Amino acid sequence: MKVLVATEKPFAAAAVNGIREVTEAAGFTLALLEKYTDKAQLLEAVADADALIVRSDKVDAEVLEAAGRLRIVVRAGAGYDNIDLEAASARKVVVMNTPGQNSNAVAELVFGMMVMAARNFYNGKSGTELMGKKLGILAFGNVGRNVSRIAKGFGMEVMAYDAYCPKEVIEAAGVEAADSQDQLFEQCDVVSLHIPATPETRQSINAALVGKMRKGGVLVNTARKEVIDEAQLLEVMAQRTDLKYVTDIMPDAHARFSELEGRYFSTPKKMGAQTAEANINAGIAAASQIVGFLKDGITRFQVNKF
Ligand code: 3PG
Repeated sequence: MKVLVATEKPFAAAAVNGIREVTEAAGFTLALLEKYTDKAQLLEAVADADALIVRSDKVDAEVLEAAGRLRIVVRAGAGYDNIDLEAASARKVVVMNTPGQNSNAVAELVFGMMVMAARNFYNGKSGTELMGKKLGILAFGNVGRNVSRIAKGFGMEVMAYDAYCPKEVIEAAGVEAADSQDQLFEQCDVVSLHIPATPETRQSINAALVGKMRKGGVLVNTARKEVIDEAQLLEVMAQRTDLKYVTDIMPDAHARFSELEGRYFSTPKKMGAQTAEANINAGIAAASQIVGFLKDGITRFQVNKF
């Protein structure tokens, strides 16, 4: 059995070693395709793979078509919007993610970005503090929960909204539950996005929502660029010159956002989950899930149906 790790943005070496140990202990062989620049390289590498581990790498119908032996794809991470689930199901390929394994890393970056925005991107001018400010967490999944835990250490007030998580669950975590997304934006100084990219959430962060934010509001995006209506965000930021946008996913309109001097920052490449710890956790979980599936038929964390 051949397990292929195809990562355009590679794991830390320690994570690759861990993946190798798990796969070889099961009697499988490991193949690596790291830092590839061309889809053709991926199409060639998957041809004889029985299992595939990816990060944000696109696994579309063409890739699945080229992978004649493939039985399982594990997205080492949380969001699986990069995988064509329908095409995978049609070919009876199991798709899994590794929920929670990289969520602390992403949550820590949220605070790195929040402090950066509060301190005027370290330009030397007097900034503000996070203590006493109200943080709104949009979606209370693994990352959202970690963000709420860290926010309490900063002395922030914390509110969350999640369309799929009952209020009681949010409150049980010691977090104020908002009635709606609108209320969250209305009542918070900082809003941190933790929603997946789905047909419902695409471009859902729009002018109507962001325009509701308190004076000096900061929008933090470590989720997906697709959830932002970029044209509307630019429009509302042009009107509301007090607002800031910090993101770990470079917008398509990066050049236009960059004109908002002192109010915008984007990492050059998504780096929320780019820590040794997150790579090790997610990579080894992915390898273990593959072994569990291929040896014992365990389908825990499967995200597609067929
Ligand atoms: C995720 O969905 O797990 C995060 O966005 C991390 O993505 P990455 O593995 O591409 O860094």
